[in-house]
Amino acid sequence: MKIRHRVAFKDCLKQIHTLQDGTIDLIVTDPPYGQDYSTGRRQQTMRSTTRIANDDGTLDIGKLLWEFDRVTAPHSHCYIFTSWKTVDEWKREFERFFVLKNILIWSKDNHTAGDLHWSYAQSYEMILFGMKGRKKLKGTRDRDSVYIPKIKSHKQVHLLQKPERLIEYLITKSTGPNEVVLDPFAGSGTVGACCARLLRNSIQFEIDLRYERPLLARLRAAIGASEIEQEIEVQ
Ligand SMILES: C[S@@+](CC[C@H](N)C(=O)[O-])C[C@H]1O[C@@H](n2cnc3c(N)ncnc32)[C@H](O)[C@@H]1O
Repeated sequence: MKIRHRVAFKDCLKQIHTLQDGTIDLIVTDPPYGQDYSTGRRQQTMRSTTRIANDDGTLDIGKLLWEFDRVTAPHSHCYIFTSWKTVDEWKREFERFFVLKNILIWSKDNHTAGDLHWSYAQSYEMILFGMKGRKKLKGTRDRDSVYIPKIKSHKQVHLLQKPERLIEYLITKSTGPNEVVLDPFAGSGTVGACCARLLRNSIQFEIDLRYERPLLARLRAAIGASEIEQEIEVQ
């Protein structure tokens, strides 16, 4: 078994056509939420503050989901992180191509600042979980909500970096070794690093070149810790 990781630091909407029909066993992705994260208090407090590309709500979600449908295998799973503010549009497009099985809740230990006196502090994210064809989840029947602490800010290399424990959990529930996982909005490369550790092949796209070094460093470190031969192709 030889595990392969392909990374392209390019716009996923312009690159995804290079993937062949029906070749992806799982999509796990965390797209820009369309609510411009680089604002207000975050801008002042995050050490590694960066504007998130395409976080202005202009992403063509319909085209993206059409491509997700095209590239996924006849029996496959798809997870898309979203928020309560943008879930309606994502859900509408998602359900055109996948059977929506759950909206998972990732409950975390921190919460957003927001308007202190006018709303509740948001402490969770939503994950659309859907299926094409018939593919069983692995392991026990789990609850649709999971509590995993957020990464401490001093350890983050990306403003919206997801915990490896959470991503590894989703990958393990939905794939076996040697299957192919796609993340078209890779950021700091959490999905790729988890795939290397779990011996899944990965394909990652990321438009922002500032994440090239951290993403590749994480991938190489995860490969270095594994005993199986793995190769990286960077485009
Ligand atoms: C929410 S972040 C992902 C963070 C990632 N889950 C992690 O753990 O580091 C979304 C990422 O999508 C990238 N992005 C936005 N538009 C893109 C596009 N059209 N193609 C590829 N990447 C894009 C942004 O630069 C950002 O890094």
